[in-house]
Amino acid sequence: MSKKISIEFEYEFYDSLKGLSKTDQELIIASRKAAKKAYSPYSNFHVGSAVLLDNKKVITGNNQENVAFSDGTCAERTALFYARAQYPNSAIEKIAISAYSNNFKLSKPISPCGSCRQVLAEYEHIQSFPIEILLASNYDEVYKIKGATQLLPLLFYEKNLQENN
Ligand code: THU
Repeated sequence: MSKKISIEFEYEFYDSLKGLSKTDQELIIASRKAAKKAYSPYSNFHVGSAVLLDNKKVITGNNQENVAFSDGTCAERTALFYARAQYPNSAIEKIAISAYSNNFKLSKPISPCGSCRQVLAEYEHIQSFPIEILLASNYDEVYKIKGATQLLPLLFYEKNLQENN
């Protein structure tokens, strides 16, 4: 027997920050500020992220590059790992991501890379409630995704390491 199975993906589109809550707007602004402090001399592509924890703390991060290219880290993982390292018992409510380039106008939001999705999905899994994702550019468009796992269907997660999961 074989059959086709499809998985739906949906997100909310905002054409301006105005439609978002004050919390979301502030988180996006924090991610934009973080992008300005990125260390990205090789790509000239600056990414910022801001994580909101359930203790209401906001942790920001940005991409950190290195001349040995694979040694760099994305903005999302910089913020997520720092947040987890400092507040291991706090759940992650939201993450906002913004980016701009020195070389061209980036008018559309960017979306996290596969490795960052994997990290987001694991934290979402262990805390048992969704991490909302706000994708923004330096302009007004925002995409809101209800949960990190949506970005990674059929993900490899911690229970896969156990028998009969
Ligand atoms: N980058 C991020 O920080 N986050 C993303 O979601 C995509 C890409 C960084 C990695 C690298 O420093 C630069 O952007 C260009 O790929």
